[in-house]
Amino acid sequence: MTKKLYISTYGCQMNVYDSARMADILSPLGYALTNQPNNADMAILNTCHIREKASEKTFSELGRLRNMRKAKQTENDGDMIIAVAGCVAQAEGAEIMKRAPYVDMVFGPQSYHKLPEMLAEATRGAGQVLDTDFPVEPKFDYLPDDAIDKNLSAFLTVQEGCDKFCAFCVVPYTRGAEFSRPVSSILAEAKRMLAAGTKEITLLGQNVNAYHGLGPSGKPLSLAELIQELASLDGLERLRYTTSHPLEMTEDLCRAHRDVDILMPYLHLPVQAGSDRILEAMNRRHTADQYRRIVEKLREYNPDLALSGDFIVGFPGETDAEFQDTMQLVRDVKYAQAYSFKYSPRPGTPAAALEGQMIAEDIKSERLAELQALLNEQQLAFNRSFEGKEIDILLEREGKKDGQLIGRSPFMQSVFVQSPPHRIGRIATVIVEEGNANSLRGKLKSGDVADAA
Ligand code: 5AD
Ligand code: SF4
Repeated sequence: MTKKLYISTYGCQMNVYDSARMADILSPLGYALTNQPNNADMAILNTCHIREKASEKTFSELGRLRNMRKAKQTENDGDMIIAVAGCVAQAEGAEIMKRAPYVDMVFGPQSYHKLPEMLAEATRGAGQVLDTDFPVEPKFDYLPDDAIDKNLSAFLTVQEGCDKFCAFCVVPYTRGAEFSRPVSSILAEAKRMLAAGTKEITLLGQNVNAYHGLGPSGKPLSLAELIQELASLDGLERLRYTTSHPLEMTEDLCRAHRDVDILMPYLHLPVQAGSDRILEAMNRRHTADQYRRIVEKLREYNPDLALSGDFIVGFPGETDAEFQDTMQLVRDVKYAQAYSFKYSPRPGTPAAALEGQMIAEDIKSERLAELQALLNEQQLAFNRSFEGKEIDILLEREGKKDGQLIGRSPFMQSVFVQSPPHRIGRIATVIVEEGNANSLRGKLKSGDVADAA
């Protein structure tokens, strides 16, 4: 009998990838995914530790799962195995076991390939199972080959972990040291995805452009070289990579944005702040002008390139003038999209120890509102600039309204069109009619409609 598996995923795309792999691993054991937690036989929370808010959700959602499990037990409807995975599990494993004794399994991002063993142990009644090791043998060597992401647009982890140690960030502690997968295993996974119908692949890594995996000749390949290898695969129509660090935007990678057709003209390149003093305190190891120059170079290679960024306001000690340097950088670069956050002290990181310099919550909120107003303005201007223009979109799924499909533009915008559903999976040319804050609306170009029937 199939058992129901519920996975709740928080945080970044790497967690989305990991959750899909967990489902792959559990599938031979009879578990099939459900999006209803209340009658699940097993529930996994794949958690995020990046900011306090994300982290806190773990315990509130655990409480809800505990109640659902109790309801199942009282109604004699079987049991529910509860597991906590991801970065909160890695950072606070022991505390979760203590605070939530009803949790059966706690495991980190580098040990979920051992799920079958952990599950056997937990169901044997051996008590709570904890595995937050960083194994010497990477998990990728143990992940199943036959089950893969069946999405039109799929994530593929090529690099994981981070050695940069930005002063605010928990990633180097939760995901561990930088590791690049060998080229052969990435190509094999990409081919399996393409055979299953994937058209677009996003290469994932916390520091994806630091990629240096072992190549076929025994020498490491750079991300640009890996991109070249992938671009030659039959059936791959679009390629993206995220997230990049400015220090690693090498000449060959910038050039790939001119030379590789299927590499989409959209780059997520976080800068975090615009003041050199704050960048130094953050241990970013580059100045604001160095970042500006990288952006200029990228745009010389590809004038269409759209940029996205991450920003932190209210880093310890940030003055009003220093915050204004961030505003100026945003005005200079002009972003198509961005994520911005209030600084959140994370246990164990160097910035969390700068106690005397913490910025008051209301100042952080004001700065965030000011920054987001500018970023939203830029995003709207970017979207409006497409009105009347043609754009190729990958039609991915049905929209909420009748006869509506949603696709993605090369620049990651969601695009709404009227179209019959059988066109899902195709790249279609759309004439943009309206650019809104978070999406575009358009109609299929007539040639594209004629061949529909
Ligand atoms: N506080 C606020 N934002 C943070 N980020 C990472 N750590 C913190 C923190 N302690 C943001 C950065 C990063 C993104 C993934 O999350 O902007 O690029
Ligand atoms: Fe965190 Fe900095 Fe590494 Fe990005 S580069 S994961 S922000 S430490």
